[in-house]
Order: sequence, then structure tokens, then C-alpha cells
Amino acid sequence: MKTEVIVIDRKALRPQDGEAGYPELDRQLAGAARILRDGGLVAFPTETVYGLGADGLNAGAAEKIYAAKGRPSDNPLILHISSREEIFPLVEEVPETAGILMEKFWPGPLTMIFRKSGIVPYQATGGLDTVAVRMPDDIVANRLIALAGVPVAAPSANLSGRPSPTTAAHVLQDMDGRIEMILDGGPVGIGVESTIVDVTGRIPVLLRPGAITLEMLSEAVGQVDIDPAILGPLTADVRPKAPGMKYRHYAPKAELVLVEERGGAASGRAGSGQAPVGNAVISRIRELAGEKIKEGHVVGIICTDETRDCYPEGIVRSVGRRGDEETIARSLFAVLRQFDDIGAEYIYSESFARDNLGRAIMNRLTKAAGYHIIYCGDQERRP
Ligand code: TXA
Ligand code: MG
Repeated sequence: MKTEVIVIDRKALRPQDGEAGYPELDRQLAGAARILRDGGLVAFPTETVYGLGADGLNAGAAEKIYAAKGRPSDNPLILHISSREEIFPLVEEVPETAGILMEKFWPGPLTMIFRKSGIVPYQATGGLDTVAVRMPDDIVANRLIALAGVPVAAPSANLSGRPSPTTAAHVLQDMDGRIEMILDGGPVGIGVESTIVDVTGRIPVLLRPGAITLEMLSEAVGQVDIDPAILGPLTADVRPKAPGMKYRHYAPKAELVLVEERGGAASGRAGSGQAPVGNAVISRIRELAGEKIKEGHVVGIICTDETRDCYPEGIVRSVGRRGDEETIARSLFAVLRQFDDIGAEYIYSESFARDNLGRAIMNRLTKAAGYHIIYCGDQERRP
């Protein structure tokens, strides 16, 4: 299959003088919408990461997504809609808390889990009686869904096990020859996937942290519980409520290890995102990297602008200023992909605060590391 890449001219996106809507953008998206209606696959930008879209009410189209991604078909998809009203045919009910969250955070990087209606095929929900729904904020995504006239089922547009794509080039790397079309809308704004909240129970449950933070959710609706699968490695007796969270997602080809100061900058004090990383972490990463380099391995280091000059050896990549969590979130997956491309065999990463957006950053990093974290600090340095 030949994969066509269409570059969307963001400058042409503003409504033209005297015209309603986005006629120029709609013209650019007409072919893509037709492919979706005909049961084909189109990758498109959203504000979080690029999605791999298909008609979410067409069982055969949804199945094609699993084949293109090489993804297990028990892993359910998110249905993307273009206006709030489109939720009603898809779900049994919209609980009160969901109504509040929709009002406040849609369109935006929030996915909610509802009990599904009869029109949603089990092929899109991985056999579950619930369905994930999100209304993206990106105008390209919004107009594409509206023009297709169907809810668009879309996982992140990466091959299963690869970091989610934050540029069209990432999508092309993984999907060339596997899908009909890629819409290139430039780099995404957020860079980590949407927050997922299960609203089917009395108390909402956070299943995946994202840019709509736990703090923001709690402020809007009070108590929000956290699925244990977010916090650490899964043991046999804990089953994640988001089936996708059980797979080793976002996995770079290299062995990734996080280095964290126990009780230090990254341990999750409120507002600690600004704190500099300690010397103990820097020297431990230098030591670990140095050993592997001496053995002849290709070694990557993930750090911040403040510490990039502290590492004399290895391939050093900064994800941004430590206090700027938005930039860190936006850079993270691209840096992991770069290390794949370079052929890094070991990656050592500094850790980050675990509150606010840091919760999403650390969730992705610890999962990519297979929960391999080395703690260091004063105690360890004492004889
Ligand atoms: O930001 C995003 O959410 C991106 C863009 C494209 O919208 N999409 C995305 O999709 O990240 P995906 O498929 O990579 O991740 C969807 C997650 C998976 O972990 C899946 O298990 C979970 O959502 N999920 C989907 N339906 C669910 C359901 N009914 N119950 C529980 N978890 C569900
Ligand atoms: Mg994904």
C-alpha cells in the first residue's frame, strides 16, 4: 500500500473573511475524510500525540488498526468526536461527574470511560462493555472527525511498543506502507497521551495521567481515585483497568534506567519541579554511563538544560529546562525515538517531580524503563 502524506497548511486554518467555518482546511481534509468513511486508515495530529484513525462504528475498519499497529486486539481504542453532543449515541448514560468534566475540559486532552451503547462494536472496545471517548482540541482533528461524520477510533499512531509519535515523521517511520494517508499538521503541542478517567463508578478513577492533571480533576469534581497500575509495576494480583497499561508501552530499544535521589528533587514534593537535580544523581549517571562506554556500548543520557554540561561522555540529550514541564512532556518521546535511531544500547535518565504534569512524565518514563529505578543519595555514598 502506498501511504500518501498531506501537509496541512496551518496558516490557512483561520476562517476566511466573511466565510463561516474553515472552508480551506475542509478542502484539504476532504480526501482523508473520504478514506475514513470508506473504511480506510488515516493518521492525523491531535494536541497530545498523532492518532491512527478509522471509522469507530465499522468493525472491519477498527480491526485494520490492530493489524497496522501490530497491536493485541484486546487493547481497546478511544473514540474521537468533534462536538459534545456526539457522545450521546455512543454511551448508555453520561454520569453527572462526566458532564462536569466534559464542560470544563472538552475539547482537550481528557478521555473518559463510559458504558457503551449498542452501536459501538466490540472490535473497537477490545470486547469490553465500556467505551473510551475524547473530543480533541486540535482543529485538524476536529474538522477531520466532523467531515468524516463518524466517531473516529484512534490509538496513538505508532507501532505497538514504540514511543507515541509527536511528529508526522515519527508516524511515517512506523506506518509507511501500512496505512492510506498521513496528515502532517506539524509537531504536537502536548506530547504525552490524554489523561484517562473512568467515570462509570461513583468516584472517578484516574487510569492514565496526562495534561489534565489529577490536581485539576480533583478541583473540578472532588475525590478522584488512582488506579494502582499507574503507580508501579503490576503484580499478578493487580489487573489494570485500562488494558493498554499492562503492555510495556513507550519502550525504547535500549535498556533504560532511571536514576533518582531518594527524598530528593524528584521525589514528588508539591512544586518541586523547579528543584535542581542533586550531585548524587549526576555522579551516579556518569559512573553508570562510563562503565558501559568502556565496554564499548552506545550510551544515551537524558537530562535537562541545567545539567547537560555535567556529562562529559555518552550521547547527551536535554528534554528542556527542569522547571518547564510542558517542554519536557513535549520532548520526551522524540528523544526516546532519537536514541532508537542512533542505536543506543543503554539510556540513563534523570528523574522528575511526580506531581502535576510530572505525574504523566514519570509514568511514561518509568514504564519505558520497565520500572528499573536506581535510587541514590547521601546514604549510599557513606562507607
Ligand atoms: O491522547 C490520546 O489519548 C491519543 C490520541 C490519538 O487521542 N490516543 C491514545 O490511544 O493514546 P491509545 O490507544 O494509545 O491508548 C488508549 C488507552 C489504552 O491504554 C487503552 O487500554 C485505554 O486507553 N482504554 C481504551 N478504552 C478503554 C476502556 N473501555 N476501558 C479502559 N481503558 C480503555
Ligand atoms: Mg498508544
